[in-house]
Amino acid sequence: MDEILEEKTGVDEQIETDLRPQYLSDYIGQNAIKNEISIYIQAAIKRDEALDHVLLYGPPGLGKTTLAYIIANEMKSKLHLVNGPSLERSGDLAAILSSISPGDILFIDEIHRIPSFVEEVLYGAMEDFKLSIVIGKDSQARSISIDLPPFTLIGATTKAGSLSSPLRDRFGIIGHFEYYEIEDLIKIIERTSKVLNCPIDTQASYLIALRSRGTPRIANRIFRRVRDFVTVLNKSAIDEISCLAALKNLGIDEYGLTEIDRKYLLTLIDRYNGKPTGLNNISIAIGEDSSNLEDVYEPYLVKTGFLNKTSRGRVATFKAYKHLDRLNKYNNQDQIY
Ligand code: ADE
Repeated sequence: MDEILEEKTGVDEQIETDLRPQYLSDYIGQNAIKNEISIYIQAAIKRDEALDHVLLYGPPGLGKTTLAYIIANEMKSKLHLVNGPSLERSGDLAAILSSISPGDILFIDEIHRIPSFVEEVLYGAMEDFKLSIVIGKDSQARSISIDLPPFTLIGATTKAGSLSSPLRDRFGIIGHFEYYEIEDLIKIIERTSKVLNCPIDTQASYLIALRSRGTPRIANRIFRRVRDFVTVLNKSAIDEISCLAALKNLGIDEYGLTEIDRKYLLTLIDRYNGKPTGLNNISIAIGEDSSNLEDVYEPYLVKTGFLNKTSRGRVATFKAYKHLDRLNKYNNQDQIY
C-alpha cells in the first residue's frame, strides 16, 4: 500500500496520538457532527446519564477515533477500545462488557467486521444493558442473563451499508464524516505546526491541504515527511519548495493522487480499454487488496470525479483520461455507461 495512506505503528503513530485534540472546542471541521454531539453530551451530563450509543461512519483518516476519545474526555468517562475483527467469539465481547463500570464508553472500531453471533450479544447489551450468555454444551446448555451498568457504545465504520439493520437501529446518535474543506485542513496543518514546534509558511500549508485528499491523517503525514526534508536541509521553516520536493518523493500529484490511484485508473483505461470493470479484476491486476481499494482509494476517486461506479463496473471518467494523458483513448464512456 502507499506509504502515505497506510495504517502505521511506531513513531509516526505516537506523533499522531500526540496531535489528537482533547476537547470538542479544539476539534476542527465536521461541524454538523460536532454541534450535535456537543448538545447530547451537555444533556447527558446535566441528567447524570450515560450518553446514547453513537455510530460514526465515513472514510478512513477523518477523525472518528479522535472524536471517540474526545467524547470520553468530555464525559469524563473511561474509554475501552477494541477492534471489531479481534472479537472472534461471544466470550471476547462478554469479557469486555463484564469489566465495564457505569458511564464507561466502549469504542468498537471497524464494527462492521464483527461476526454475526458476536453482534447478537451486542443487541441486548445496547438495548436493555443485559448480557445474555450460553453456558454449558448440548443438552446441558442454558442461557443466563447478567445485568450491565448503563454504558455508551461508540461504533466506527467505513462501511455503514455493511451493518445489519438491527445493529444500526440500536444507535441513537449517528454521525456521518465528510472529507474536510481546504480551509479546515489548513487550520489542522497550522495546529500541527504549533504542536510539533515546526513553523510553516502560508503557501506551504495551502499546498499540503490541497494534496491531502480532504483527510487530516494524510495532511499530518505529509507534514511529517516535509519536516524531515526541512530538517536535513537545515531550514528554519517549511516552505513551498521543500513541500514540492517531498510531495514528488512521495509520488503525490497535484490532485493528491498516489501511485496506486494512478495504477488503478490506468488499469481501467489501458488494460480494460475503458470498459466497465469489476473491482476484483482491478484488484488482481494491480495486486492490491480489494476491500482496501474499496474503502480507501475509490471513495476519493469518485468524490474527485476520476471514477464512476456503475452497475456494470468501474469506469474511468474524462477527467481521468485527461489527467493521465490518455485523451487519445477516450471514446466518451461517460455518456455510454
Ligand atoms: N488532527 C486530526 N484531525 C483533527 C481535527 N479534526 N481537528 C483538530 N486536529 C486534528
